[in-house]
Amino acid sequence: MLQWLRQLFHRHTLVQPETPEPPHSAAQPEPEPAHNAVESDPIAALMPFQIRPLDSKDMAELLGVFREAIQVSAAAEYDQKQRDAWSQAQSYDSLISVLSEGDTVVAEWDDKLVGFAHRIRDYINMVFVHPEASRVGIATLLYQHLEDGARIEGITELTTHASLTAHGFFAYMGFTSEGQEQAERDGIPLTRHAMRKSLV
Ligand SMILES: CC(C)(COP(=O)(O)OP(=O)(O)OC[C@H]1O[C@@H](n2cnc3c(N)ncnc32)[C@H](O)[C@@H]1OP(=O)(O)O)[C@@H](O)C(=O)NCCC(=O)NCCS
Repeated sequence: MLQWLRQLFHRHTLVQPETPEPPHSAAQPEPEPAHNAVESDPIAALMPFQIRPLDSKDMAELLGVFREAIQVSAAAEYDQKQRDAWSQAQSYDSLISVLSEGDTVVAEWDDKLVGFAHRIRDYINMVFVHPEASRVGIATLLYQHLEDGARIEGITELTTHASLTAHGFFAYMGFTSEGQEQAERDGIPLTRHAMRKSLV
């Protein structure tokens, strides 16, 4: 974990001059130190964002991240009809229901929620990052927390259904594709990859 954090920090440091401002924010005070599992790690404390468990007050922002990530970040792989069907597949209430089971972590950047990830047992169910906060390692950090939790539970393999957008991310995390398949949202087909990763 520490080695991984150091790699991530090194990567972040290298891109620091081009790192975007935190989404929806003007000048902000220095970020608070992390209040989570990486709190004791000085490298993690230097990161501009923190990972913490889901709070019930997060739901409205979380739904916004879900919809923006689909509408903006997935625009190259899915057309407007597909993005609308996918992003409307979850409502405020259905997200509460889905996330009531399993493990959910969220990423905060200057008090703004910029990403979240959800695992149910051996299944990575959701990883979504706000487009204004993409490619700075937030999904990596969210995912790593879920994988760490799975390892602690003795889980030996993780599976997921990765969107075409997220396929590269999951491959980077060590998942391999077992091929493409068609999902459906509101009668609209959405191509995705069935992927898995061994933890042993
Ligand atoms: C996929 C997603 C979660 C990635 O979030 P992110 O915080 O930008 O990812 P990270 O910065 O941690 O990326 C780590 C690495 O994964 C790979 N990666 C991430 N996004 C990628 C993309 N769109 N295409 C190819 N590789 C990608 C890269 O190797 C990246 O390292 P690099 O930036 O040094 O090249 C985000 O783009 C998203 O929310 N997409 C839309 C919603 C979605 O498809 N979610 C998954 C549902 S199954």
